[in-house]
Amino acid sequence: MRIERIHLENFRNYKHVEIFPDKSRNIIVGENAQGKTNLIEAIYMAAFAKSFRTNNAAEMVSFGAKQGRIGIDIFSEELEKNINITIRTDGKKMIQKDGKAIRKIADLLNTVVVIIFSPDDLRIIKDSPDRRRTFLNSEISQIRPRYYEVLREYNETLRQKNALLKGYFNVSRKTFTRADNLMLNEASRFDNSRKFNEEMLDIYDRKLADSAYEIVRYRKDFVEMLSTEAEEIVRKISGDREQLKIKYKTTCDFVTAPEGRDIIYEQFYNRRDKDIYAGSATAGPHRDDIEFYINGEDAKKYGSQGQQRTIALALKLAEIRMAKIFLEESPILLLDDVLSELDLDRQRFLVSEIDDVQLFITSAEINEEVIKYLKGGTLLRVEEGSITRVDKY
Ligand SMILES: Nc1ncnc2c1ncn2[C@@H]1O[C@H](COP(=O)(O)OP(=O)(O)O)[C@@H](O)[C@H]1O
Ligand SMILES: [Mg+2]
Repeated sequence: MRIERIHLENFRNYKHVEIFPDKSRNIIVGENAQGKTNLIEAIYMAAFAKSFRTNNAAEMVSFGAKQGRIGIDIFSEELEKNINITIRTDGKKMIQKDGKAIRKIADLLNTVVVIIFSPDDLRIIKDSPDRRRTFLNSEISQIRPRYYEVLREYNETLRQKNALLKGYFNVSRKTFTRADNLMLNEASRFDNSRKFNEEMLDIYDRKLADSAYEIVRYRKDFVEMLSTEAEEIVRKISGDREQLKIKYKTTCDFVTAPEGRDIIYEQFYNRRDKDIYAGSATAGPHRDDIEFYINGEDAKKYGSQGQQRTIALALKLAEIRMAKIFLEESPILLLDDVLSELDLDRQRFLVSEIDDVQLFITSAEINEEVIKYLKGGTLLRVEEGSITRVDKY
């Protein structure tokens, strides 16, 4: 797929711009704070209806404006499609696809499929598990919109369960020791409110187990495929010296359908005292993680910075391959300020792998070497919220 037109009104520092990107390479250059990342953010918005920089959509509306607008035309599956997003200063978003309102984000998710690679992604191996779960969630959602819906259901139920657990005794649990809590549990066993709470917890755990079962299956399949693709890429980058394995770590032990749901429920049930003591759900997909091994060693602990960067790059390239497999067309690649973070060999490798992908790449300076690899394409110069097209090179 490719973006054919980007139209922004009162989006960040863009009052009004309209551009018609190149179908393969778009190099966005400009000094700091001119609007390069803002443009990438607008494209990302059309894919996910959320920003990768902020959870507060209102920040994206230009200072002083009542609302901001992003319009993106794409060509995908041999069709012209259009996404329009209006963002209001109260943070509300109106999303339209081909002129019709979209109510569920899941219906948007595989329309504009983007893969973003920014300097933050280089730290994915070292960062907290939360980051890696976000990675899994956004990537799986794009190729499997159903996943996004299940995840939402799960998170909603988890929120309710946690609220119940937190207020379980209606007192601050922090002041109690574990023994106190266990005693209180025992004491309240015959109490009606305790019974009610137990019943509610049971309802939540059943629902959570159903969603968890689906989430874990999607994640397991995704990570397996990701591992295979990324392994091959790392092998190529390292000249056969490094073998990558990615492992999915879940608190939900899992067997194939349909007993999986019951097994997960039982796990939740067995942890009930722990949950009550902790005041929050201690097991489930919200505690999952992925681990990376290079030649059998944990890359988080023992990998060099170079190896960790190679893995991060391989993950992105593997994602592109997977998107192609699932969507039967190429996704759009957004490289925000990341190229200069990679050494020349890795840059070369990256560019050689993405021949048939529409690319938006930002950079503070034009690196001659890079331009040579990128052969052809459009240079867009960003300056204080205006974009001018420089001659083809
Ligand atoms: N809501 C907004 N309205 C107007 N300008 C904004 C808004 N949000 C950010 N900006 C401006 O955008 C600029 C940063 O743009 P950005 O795309 O991050 O820069 P870069 O070119 O370095 O990637 C800053 O000058 C900032 O003041
Ligand atoms: Mg930037």
